[in-house]
Amino acid sequence: MRILVLGSGAREHAIIRALLAEDADHDITAAPGNAGIADDVRTIGIDPNDGVAVAGYAEAHGVELVVVGPEAPLVAGVSDAVRERGIPVFGPSKAAAKLEGSKAFAKRIMEAAGVPTGRAEVAGTLDEARETIDRFGAPYVVKANGLAAGKGVLVTDDRDAALEHARQWLEHGTVLIEEFLAGREVSLFLLSDGEHVLPLSPAQDYKRLLDGDEGPNTGGMGAYSPVPWLEENFVDEVIKTIALPTIRAMAEEQTPFIGLLYCGLIVTDAGPRVIEFNARFGDPETQVVLPRLVTPLSGLLYAAATGELGGVPRPEFALDVAVGVVLASEGYPEAPVTGRAILGMDAASAVPEVQLLHAATDIAAIATDATSSWSTETLVTSGGRVLTVVALGSTFDEARERAYEAIGKLTIEGGQFRTDIAAAVAPAAH
Ligand code: AMP
Ligand code: GLY
Repeated sequence: MRILVLGSGAREHAIIRALLAEDADHDITAAPGNAGIADDVRTIGIDPNDGVAVAGYAEAHGVELVVVGPEAPLVAGVSDAVRERGIPVFGPSKAAAKLEGSKAFAKRIMEAAGVPTGRAEVAGTLDEARETIDRFGAPYVVKANGLAAGKGVLVTDDRDAALEHARQWLEHGTVLIEEFLAGREVSLFLLSDGEHVLPLSPAQDYKRLLDGDEGPNTGGMGAYSPVPWLEENFVDEVIKTIALPTIRAMAEEQTPFIGLLYCGLIVTDAGPRVIEFNARFGDPETQVVLPRLVTPLSGLLYAAATGELGGVPRPEFALDVAVGVVLASEGYPEAPVTGRAILGMDAASAVPEVQLLHAATDIAAIATDATSSWSTETLVTSGGRVLTVVALGSTFDEARERAYEAIGKLTIEGGQFRTDIAAAVAPAAH
């Protein structure tokens, strides 16, 4: 199949690897991709947020399926532009992507659909925020009401910090004050064609920068899949109480959701509660979910994009477990240092069952040692999250050991990674 993948992260690299693993003959193009993606498939310099350019390219080149990775093209209406030309696209319309882009819209849909979530109120002024914060009580949850690149959420016991966060984000719009939900977090991805849903395997993400869930929130520092501490009926319960009601409410709003419904959940004593929806695959969860997928990915994405998910059986997953550890640049998430050499790629990728999925990597002409291959010696960092090192194993210990053995062979000056990814997956931990 001729497929165009939009995006440039390790998530898109994982999508492309899954497509190639299913059929090496797929004709895949990535826009813009990165250095690792360019090693696997054709990459082009089209701006993924430019709907006219993307749709024009897809039409001119006979693309049969467009897969949108990140949220920015969705919010910019790129899916609409592609769909208008009659080309199947996996990714919701601009209107449906508000499920991620506007937390207030998401709350309204959840309310309409009766979806279990934390109580929340929108505040437009500091007085309103203060009044709501005091009424809700500690721990305080204050969220920017819009896309905030992972920085908009503060969970704290410190009332002054909560008020300061509200004050800062009120300069950019409204804020949401939310009820604190206690429990463990899990991500569940569901493919949707606007009417039906099919679940992928659950994953857990590690959002904080440092071991022990300390430090600032990030885009995600690691993940594992499956999630053995979940109850057996967890996926069915999420489908019944959360995913299907949401998809139905979106259809009723005349904004059918076609693409990936990412349910960010907290498993409370009373059952799963939504903390956020995203309108796309999660990063880094995708890097641990897709390597375990046995069912061909292209067929699933195409069926969702063309409204044909109804008769499709649930995707199957290998019994193997996957652990992914993100290697990030010095200064991430505040001010990542770029242009640093990435060394040890060959040695790291030689560790059994390991994949090095590229995110912020680029090829640069830096001084090289003539005895090494170009792909190690000229690879440099170009942003915050540089690589996701993913390992499969038959147990979490085995997958963890492989992932950390591989990451130990990689060197980036000032590079950062967590050492506790998938260290505590047993039911009692966390
Ligand atoms: P979000 O960007 O909405 O996913 O929030 C970022 C992180 O803040 C989440 O991954 C949770 O760890 C935490 N969080 C968000 N909302 C809540 C809540 N209502 N209760 C407890 N923790 C929350
Ligand atoms: N892993 C969190 C996200 O993709 O938003």
